[in-house]
Amino acid sequence: RFVAVLAGGLSHERDVSLRSGRRISAALRTVGVTVEEWDADANLLHRMREHRPDAVVVALHGGEGENGSIQTILDLLSIPYVGTDPDACRRSWDKPTAKAELARAGVLTPDWVVLPHSTFRELGAAPVLESMVQRLGLPLMLKPDKGGSALGAQVVRDAANLPTAMVGCLAYSDAVLAEKFVDGVEVAVTVIDGPDGPEALPAVEIVPESGVYDYTARYTAGLTTFHTPARLDPKAADAVAELAVTAHKLLGLRDISRTDAVIDSSGAVHFLEVNLSPGLTETSLVPMAVEAAGRSLGAIYAGLIDRAIA
Ligand code: DAL
Ligand code: MG
Repeated sequence: RFVAVLAGGLSHERDVSLRSGRRISAALRTVGVTVEEWDADANLLHRMREHRPDAVVVALHGGEGENGSIQTILDLLSIPYVGTDPDACRRSWDKPTAKAELARAGVLTPDWVVLPHSTFRELGAAPVLESMVQRLGLPLMLKPDKGGSALGAQVVRDAANLPTAMVGCLAYSDAVLAEKFVDGVEVAVTVIDGPDGPEALPAVEIVPESGVYDYTARYTAGLTTFHTPARLDPKAADAVAELAVTAHKLLGLRDISRTDAVIDSSGAVHFLEVNLSPGLTETSLVPMAVEAAGRSLGAIYAGLIDRAIA
């Protein structure tokens, strides 16, 4: 029996994915799983049909790896895989859709608007940006509506910087998610499906040296300090764990997810987003949470592979 770990691909997060793929492959080998690392390139379909892995671990980030495309192909080929099904991938990969689903269920999430590229063409940038600032105020958090690893994301404190920040987002997606910026403690909570349902691992608190957890701060060792478990009082720790499990269940996520949230100075927890193929690199959050829980990444994924095959 052998497991194919899919990594690489064509998304902007290709490098991150290759690192995640290497890490999870090594972790699986330590628990005796036979693993091949496959780049999600033009040969992937052929290779998958030719060599039919017994299961797949999707270590792809961004684009096809998280929008349900690869998962649809795996379903069509009847190859079991670790992770979320195509429909739930589509909903969660689109940040505004995920926010709307959670907001409908009463979960707190920063107020937001979505600005499709076409809006700028039809109405002109100035009135669109003006009405956005009127509605949400400043500072704002701008993100591509779909994306990962903070690529294109920016905090905007001065309206004069909005046009450049918008262009930065539109380089990665065709719509911008503008959110009210919530200042506070940033945390990430991993959820793993177990025999008794989804279970939250200890929250990881993120303290970037520069104050901004951008791509460089994410993937350069030493540029961010992590506290695992997060330095939260028990009530806040319970609240973030509950939020992550709620997001996992409400969005229909399977096997593993990571919810990112921020806790403001009043202690309120705000949902930011879920990650259905969370990073597994040396500086990523899931491996830290797993270690803090006293568990092994390889054993957890081996368990998820068994569930997928069963
Ligand atoms: N998108 C990156 C890989 C993460 O969420 O960890
Ligand atoms: Mg993300």
